[in-house]
Amino acid sequence: MTANGPMKKWSSSRAPAGRVAYVNGRYLPFAAAGVHIEDRGLQFGDSIYEVFNILNSQPTDEEPHLDRMERSLRELGMAMPISRAALKLVVREMIARNRMADCFLYLQVTRGAVKRDHVPPADGPRPTLIMTMRGQDKSAFAQRLEKGIAVSTQPDIRWGRCDIKTVQLLPNLLAKQAAKKAGAFEAWLVDEEGYVTEGSSTNAWIVDADGTLITRDLSNAILPGVTRKLMLQAARDAQIKVVERKFTVAEALAAKEAFISSATSAATPVVAIDGHTIGNGTPGPITRRVRDLYAAQSVQKTA
Ligand code: PDD
Repeated sequence: MTANGPMKKWSSSRAPAGRVAYVNGRYLPFAAAGVHIEDRGLQFGDSIYEVFNILNSQPTDEEPHLDRMERSLRELGMAMPISRAALKLVVREMIARNRMADCFLYLQVTRGAVKRDHVPPADGPRPTLIMTMRGQDKSAFAQRLEKGIAVSTQPDIRWGRCDIKTVQLLPNLLAKQAAKKAGAFEAWLVDEEGYVTEGSSTNAWIVDADGTLITRDLSNAILPGVTRKLMLQAARDAQIKVVERKFTVAEALAAKEAFISSATSAATPVVAIDGHTIGNGTPGPITRRVRDLYAAQSVQKTA
């Protein structure tokens, strides 16, 4: 209930995602799901998240996503809200209850609801664990894979621990908004020295004139993408030359190919950066190969 009566329901056209949400042990209809007004995730962004793919009703790359989730929590001094085994059961229950075979699972853990105080409480409140599912616009995605996308470079104004997957995404969304305004699909964030860190919600890759695949090395400056890690492995296994190092915007503009990676975008080709055409302006063979190698590996695991 709100002060004005029953909680306002989302009209179906604006409903943000699937049918059923999970909140702290309960499976709830979307419109009825919510967290406490003093949740630290809401008040401080004191919260971490994960997004992974559900394909044929099976979670994709679940273990490495849960590994990263545990790491993010550890870095914030938080424990897993429930055991990994229990969490995996909830994921499967969500898949069944939402009846969505192909979709994205969103999982968030906050430090919980407690009287507002910057200092995280030592005897912490119960953490908040939420899960939602959302479908994907498959035709728009297929279109992006086929035609490629444009990216726009934006200054990286984020904090010093971008390796932790926190929900503090304001700089990311401002960059994405600016990119959209510039007619691009994604923003590539650029550090003070002119090197690309990553995308606003993706990792960034280029292929140089020799056909070497290049993506920034891991540090506090980027999120250790699960898709990035598995694509690197798959590319190395297939004898594609791979180097993990930072690259400048100038190098990216001169690249033969470029692409972005994430759980929600696979390897999506980048065909223009700040209005400059990359390669011949169409998705390149190495991007496609990496995407196929990654997909084959995921299929094998879920088979
Ligand atoms: N984003 N870099 C950033 C800043 C990200 O937010 C993401 C993922 C990635 C790629 O990570 P992965 O391969 O593990 O998805 C890199 C998710 C999809 C999101 O915020 O929706």
